This record gives sequence, C-alpha cells and structure tokens, in this order.
Amino acid sequence: MSFYYVPAMSTRSTIYLDHAAGTDILPEIKSQLAEWVHEFSGNPSGIHGVGRRAASLLDDARSGFAQVIGAKGNEILFTSGGTEANNLALLGLASASQNQGKHIISCATEHPSTLEALKHLEGEGFNISYLPVNANGDIDLNELSSLITAETILISIMWVNNETGLVHPIPEIAQIAHSQGVLLHSDAVQALGHIPIRVDEIPVDVLSFSGHKLGAPSGIGCLYLRKGTTLEHRSYGGSQENNLRAGTQNLLGVRALALAAKHQTENLENNTHHYNMLVDHAIKRLSQIPGTQINRSGAAYSPHILNCSIRGVDGEALFIRLDLANICVSNGSACSSGSQAPSHVLTAMGIDKALAQASLRISFGLRTTREEVDVFCDELAHIITSLEG
Ligand SMILES: Cc1ncc(COP(=O)(O)O)c(C=O)c1O
Repeated sequence: MSFYYVPAMSTRSTIYLDHAAGTDILPEIKSQLAEWVHEFSGNPSGIHGVGRRAASLLDDARSGFAQVIGAKGNEILFTSGGTEANNLALLGLASASQNQGKHIISCATEHPSTLEALKHLEGEGFNISYLPVNANGDIDLNELSSLITAETILISIMWVNNETGLVHPIPEIAQIAHSQGVLLHSDAVQALGHIPIRVDEIPVDVLSFSGHKLGAPSGIGCLYLRKGTTLEHRSYGGSQENNLRAGTQNLLGVRALALAAKHQTENLENNTHHYNMLVDHAIKRLSQIPGTQINRSGAAYSPHILNCSIRGVDGEALFIRLDLANICVSNGSACSSGSQAPSHVLTAMGIDKALAQASLRISFGLRTTREEVDVFCDELAHIITSLEG
C-alpha cells in the first residue's frame, strides 16, 4: 500500500458530475410533491371512496407514463426502481418461457442488476451467452444472430450504457430477435429522457426504467411489458400490478415518475442541446490534459455521459484527490463504485485493469454549467500533475 500527501478538503462548492447515478428532482416535481404530500391519498387497494380515488391517481400516472413511450396503461408495471425492473424482467420472462428453452443472450457490459440476475438464472439451470464488445463498447450484430439457437428465449441488451453512454442499436436488435421468435428486453434506465423511446415505433417487448435518473425521487421505477408478453411474478403477497408485483404502490413516486418522464421527453431537444454543449466542451478541455484518453469514438453516444482514463496515475489516489477537491464523479456504476475493482465495462472494452481503475465516468445534469466543466478540468489537470510529481 502506498501513502500520499493528503491536502485539506477544498472549501469551494461541490461540483457534481455524477448525474447518471442520480440527478436533482426537477423543480416542477418538487412543487407538485409539496402539494401531493398535503393530500391524504390512502391505499389504491382500499375498497372505499378514498381507495378508489387513490386507484384513480395510480391509473392516471400509469397511463401518463405509458403515453410518453407510446404504450398503453395496462402495459406498465410499477417497481421500486431500475434494479427491481431488470430483476423482474429477467427472472419473470425466464420462468415464464422456460418450457420453450433455457438459453438467454446478453452482453458483458450490462449493469450489475442485469448481470447478477443472469448469474442467478445460471444457478437455476439457464445457459447465458455474454456477447463481447469492441474497443468502443459496441456489440457485433452478426455475432448476436449467430448465437441464437432453437433454445434461445430472450435477448437482453441495454439501450444506453451507464458508464460510457454508448447507445446500442435497439431497433436492429429487435428485428434480429423477432425474426427468430425471441423476446427482447432492454434496460432503458439511462436512455429515457436522453434519446427518443417509442414502443409504437420500435418493437421491443420489455423495457426497464428508473425515476431518479429522470428527475423524480429514488425508489420508483417501472417495467414496460408489451401486451401478450408472458411474465411470471417473483414476489409474493397482494395482487397489485396485475398480480405481477406484490406490494402497495408508491403513489407519490409513481405520480412523480410519470411527470418527470413527460417533462424530460417534451424537453428532449433542448436538453440534448445543453448536454451536447457540455460534452463537446469537456472533450475539448480533457483532450488538452496530457495522459487523458477519452473512451468514445465512432459509435453513437448519449451526450449526458462521458468516460475518460488517465494514464500514469494511481486510480485510488486520483479519486481521493477528486473527492477532497469536492468533485463528484464516479469510477463505474453507482452500484459497484465504492469497491476498488476495475470497471467490468472498461475491461470488457480491452482497457487494462490499472487504467480502468484510473477512469472517470463524468455525467451531466440539467443544472450543470460550462463553468463547472472548466473548474473540473482545471482541478483534474492540477491533481494529475501533483500525482505524477
Ligand atoms: C443502466 C442502469 N440500469 C439499472 C440501474 C439501477 O437502477 P436503480 O438505481 O433505480 O435501481 C442503473 C442505476 O445506476 C443504471 O444506470
């Protein structure tokens, strides 16, 4: 173990560039939540007037969210977030379709909530193929086609990668899956609000979403389940969510989720413009810092996430120094950061372990400014110089 000179904590205000882990609650949602908490809403399962009113609010949120993605209200199942949505999709679809086969295709760079659920399915006797990725994090669609067998029941490929921002070609993947009679699930947690998602235009079967990436509070999410797709429930208790997810619904959360999704998609063009300005500026500034490698090229990326690696510095020391400088960035997905293990996404892209450990996931929000990007780049350049010296 090495020891470093540790400077005092910075007194400058925090620069938060970790919006892909969790972003601010939208101002419109904050004011609505303040009103909603003053109304007593009761339990949507109640068999009385209060319960019926709560059920009607729940229905409104369901159809409101559905409308945003071009779905029908009865195709939306509320969950506690993206992790539960991915778990329910994978475990529930696998159980429901296991009589047709036990082979699932996914990708090495998925979020841990997908990879861990798949690991669990392996323990239940399912056979999982993990597509490798190239240096950009892209999969090969010919390789995907060649992996499909008569036993394949499901393909699960995320829409936008949470560490690099890479956008997978979901419309083409849907075509490949359906031409072979295979279901397609996609983790769309980092995609909604950043790229257009319409299930009436793209025939994906199941999608996962999360509220706290969209400007709703954490602890709420949902699953889109195309009508006619069979899913087996994996929780036991009440008959909520069409018997597919037991437990009293988070009424404040679902109302906030529907409103945040509507707000973000209605403002997608303006927001994209803002993120493009930030990411272009960050790439320009970071490229001027010696030893910095931007982990994106060629493929399509969502502009709210940028990944870069710093050559020749110790990753642990780099993150300590950034934290002391009151700069919030991440070194992987929020679920796996905190551990010093190198990112499975970057190592799958062929980046060596030491460099992966010295890699930053920078992610922008609606309140991020160009000046904050400048302060971050200045601090980073200073930290790199002092760590090298
Ligand atoms: C791509 C992706 N999937 C799933 C999740 C998990 O969502 P939640 O935090 O709502 O459980 C995240 C969260 O970081 C994510 O980025």
